[in-house]
Amino acid sequence: MLDILRSDVAKYYDSVANTYDRNFTNRVDLAENRVISQKIQPIVDKMGPVVDFGCGTGLFLDYCTVPEYMGIDISPGMIENATSKHPTRCFRVTDMTIPKLLIPQDYGVAVSLFGSISYCEFPQDVLNNMRDALFPGGKVVVMALSPLYMRRKGDILSRTCFVECASGVPYKRFKRMFEDAFTLIDSFGFSCLLNYSPLFKYVPVSLLSQYLKFEARTWGRFFPDSCLFHVFIGERK
Ligand SMILES: C[S@@+](CC[C@H](N)C(=O)[O-])C[C@H]1O[C@@H](n2cnc3c(N)ncnc32)[C@H](O)[C@@H]1O
Repeated sequence: MLDILRSDVAKYYDSVANTYDRNFTNRVDLAENRVISQKIQPIVDKMGPVVDFGCGTGLFLDYCTVPEYMGIDISPGMIENATSKHPTRCFRVTDMTIPKLLIPQDYGVAVSLFGSISYCEFPQDVLNNMRDALFPGGKVVVMALSPLYMRRKGDILSRTCFVECASGVPYKRFKRMFEDAFTLIDSFGFSCLLNYSPLFKYVPVSLLSQYLKFEARTWGRFFPDSCLFHVFIGERK
């Protein structure tokens, strides 16, 4: 159980909102963003409007080309930053765990990326809300933190000692939750070895991206709990 209040999560992200994006500019982060957006872009191209749960500063929009978009986040500071970066897009300060969150069923794709769902004590509520925001046949992409994630060196959470606000759920347990809400299309562990070698800092982003894709197809499928994120792709039942 998470022993931290949702309002604390909002306050914490308010306090780091202005500098948040700067934490994700090293080559490993850039490669991770590139690989995930390349995975999502064809889904968006086919399915259209996107709703982003726990959108933060709208980093998703920096990497993907999206026709229509709505981002929701519990932190007013993160939403303020997202709005100033993407003034023509729609953002809302909302707690995504609220049961039966009212979002019109207008979306073809629902995403929750880089661990936003892992701040929620009951991820199932978020998954249900994501499902309810999709039109029939709509697709979902969720990236949850694995229990290993908290050990990531230099990460924003470990650096700020705010680790206890998020919790990593073991792969099989999260998969069961996911399959209660969606028909599973694909799932894998993402980003493993990259985080343990300082040498990766010197490799070009394009090469790191190729490596990450290879890793996700091989190691990430067989040993997902040794990765930092778990990625689940599904379809509304
Ligand atoms: C690690 S950041 C990820 C942000 C973004 N998805 C990205 O890829 O950069 C986690 C985000 O989840 C948001 N969040 C945490 N709990 C939330 C909740 N209950 N409802 C809405 N947003 C939440 C935080 O405010 C924060 O912006």
